[in-house]
Amino acid sequence: MRVTIQQLADMKAKGERIAMLTAYDYSTAKQIEEAGVPLILVGDSLGMVILGYDSAIPVTLDDMIHHTKAVVRGTQKALVVGDLPFMTYHTSTADALRSAARMIQEGGAQAVKLEGGVSMAPTVKRVVECGIPVMGHIGLTPQSANQLGGFKVQGRSVEAAKRLLADAKALEEAGAFAIVLECIPAPLARLITERSAVPTIGIGAGVHCDGQVQVISDLLGMFTDFVPRHAKQYAKLGDETRRAVSEYIAEVTQGQFPTAKQSFSMDAALVEEIERSL
Ligand code: KIV
Repeated sequence: MRVTIQQLADMKAKGERIAMLTAYDYSTAKQIEEAGVPLILVGDSLGMVILGYDSAIPVTLDDMIHHTKAVVRGTQKALVVGDLPFMTYHTSTADALRSAARMIQEGGAQAVKLEGGVSMAPTVKRVVECGIPVMGHIGLTPQSANQLGGFKVQGRSVEAAKRLLADAKALEEAGAFAIVLECIPAPLARLITERSAVPTIGIGAGVHCDGQVQVISDLLGMFTDFVPRHAKQYAKLGDETRRAVSEYIAEVTQGQFPTAKQSFSMDAALVEEIERSL
């Protein structure tokens, strides 16, 4: 049985912090679930950390479904949220419903995430009414980075802060089961979290959120183009990968790999018989 949105609500009620991570493939998803992560996001950040684009904008719904299927196959307990990519839910409510339905039906996710607050609330309401749990995402919404003028901290003025408070309230009233707060000042995230009936999940939003989400490639030190200010590297798998591969190259070129341990033997008499028959 997978974690449910009701269990996440209970965690907020009990003051239990929620640790969420992104995953994009079978093996990573399996390991982070085994480590105890209850909530996994197949984020469109895969555009950068997996596919090598310079933003999430080129990511398609087919890309997202492909990776979501792999994460779902690697997990049994975690609740898997599939991110709806750029322009797959903005053009009309019907498009949003179709995209969300594909993420659930084909991708196998249990919920979807979409960016936007007040303006997206009617869409969120309709998707939720159709039985699809929605996670909201406000603050720095990377799909709108061009409109926001880059990847900047949001909500720094009274007006901007009030807009974010209104966004969170609109998402909650529309039925979102949780809200990602990305790159907003910690005191503002605290205000939103205190006023929100649903869990807030922060990334670059300080310690007062009900939960935290990190991009797995940042946390493991696998994505080395840059380290976002909000990220902490708990491992340096990029360094470890280069070290392991250098050792492999050296062993192959020096004839030290494979050894008998990685090879399959054959009876000497049989080898002789084969040679004689040639
Ligand atoms: O795409 C993503 O990984 C996200 C998280 C950073 C919240 O949206």
